[in-house]
Amino acid sequence: MHIIMIGTGYVGLVSGACFSKFGTNVVCVDKDITKIEALQNNRMPIYEPYLDDLVFDNIKEKRLFFTTDLKIAMKDADIVFIAVGTPNLHSENYADLNYVYDAAREIAQFLTTRYTIVAIKSTVPVGTSRKIKNIIREFRPDADFDVVSNPEFLREGSAINDFMHPDRIIIGVETDRSMEIMKRLYSVLYLIDTPIVFTSLETSELIKYATNTFLATKVTFINEIADLCEAVGADVHDVARGIGLDGRIGKKFLHPGPGYGGSCFPKDTLALVKIARDRGAPLRIIETVISINDERKQRMVNKIITACSGSVSGKTIAVLGLTFKPNTDDIRDSPSLEIVPALQKAGALIRVFDPKGMEKARHMFVDVTFCENVYKTLQSADAMVVLTEWDEFRALDFTLIKSLLKNPILVDLRNIYDPSNMVASGFHYTSIGRSSVQRNDVNQ
Ligand code: UDX
Repeated sequence: MHIIMIGTGYVGLVSGACFSKFGTNVVCVDKDITKIEALQNNRMPIYEPYLDDLVFDNIKEKRLFFTTDLKIAMKDADIVFIAVGTPNLHSENYADLNYVYDAAREIAQFLTTRYTIVAIKSTVPVGTSRKIKNIIREFRPDADFDVVSNPEFLREGSAINDFMHPDRIIIGVETDRSMEIMKRLYSVLYLIDTPIVFTSLETSELIKYATNTFLATKVTFINEIADLCEAVGADVHDVARGIGLDGRIGKKFLHPGPGYGGSCFPKDTLALVKIARDRGAPLRIIETVISINDERKQRMVNKIITACSGSVSGKTIAVLGLTFKPNTDDIRDSPSLEIVPALQKAGALIRVFDPKGMEKARHMFVDVTFCENVYKTLQSADAMVVLTEWDEFRALDFTLIKSLLKNPILVDLRNIYDPSNMVASGFHYTSIGRSSVQRNDVNQ
């Protein structure tokens, strides 16, 4: 089977490389010649664990190719995936579909007489797949094609594993012919009992949005519960464990933090509430989730300022972690993008380090000192703040850290350290949803 993947971002590149690992012949197409040349020379335009090996191996096996020329690529295509970005149009809280529609028009132009499936993998507002079908039909009333919706559920940082071991595959179809071909494409996963849900185009699109907005709601729920834990002296991790053992709740996505970020949750929650409001079926819970998450960043800034005795003016704050989550270089809508400038506005001088995000961060932060490692970042800082739970921040030399910091103040916004250990090591330790018993507060 020959497939085309239009778009070589987090979704397109990972999906294309994984499909080629199944033995499918994949051509990844992108307009960005620098990206394509980098990929042809096995330089990854994004950081995703193990992606470079996966791409390199399949290029070597001559199952994975990269080009800017869609016309040539489409010659033998059975399925053409649209996996281009749908960034948020912040002005109207809509998903920007220009790249998607451009791709649809280009596909229409190059469709051959061969039956072709056009599969939408990008996250698109409900009804978009049908619009794409109409666009192509209008351009090419003669063409023999079907449109399917095939959203993905990959998480950055674990995208390859998520692709290879999905909880389910969702496919919106309108014909038996397209259903059979999609079944064949996913047969490798089907064989290992991965459920495939065939449904309508609109339902498939809504399943994607409903999944992400529900997960964003779950994260926001535990974040609010964490704040309540601080108020009543409870432990949020024990609460998360206690409720997560209920099969109806499940233990995942119950880790408190500075708020959700990334290229999906913020965009998808905004897009869905916009669609819902426009269709007269407002999603008020999700609207509330969005405002709680937006406010949370300032709450975190206040927590940091409180930990610094009420002011950060003229103080140096060492920030560890800029990406929106670990194991990615992605900083899009990361909490750091609001927390760092807010600290600067309060008069703080900022030193930063991130294991993978530094290159992208250089374009997104101003007047911060980019440091080459954790300990250099902490040198002479008045406080240390952990924003992203990178594994390499978990087992640091705290004796050394205490000697580097001007004051042993540690604000852990991802709860990666144990409060009692930190207090025993002499830190003024603040975290989320846990009582931070300080040495001098403990009855001797
Ligand atoms: C998400 C969805 O999980 C994935 O299925 C979809 O395809 C794309 O969007 P991603 O954005 O890569 O994936 O990251 P995810 O791991 O879901 O985390 C999203 C945000 O929620 C991050 O900012 C993360 O820090 C936060 N989060 C997640 C929490 O704060 N607590 C949690 O328990 C889980």
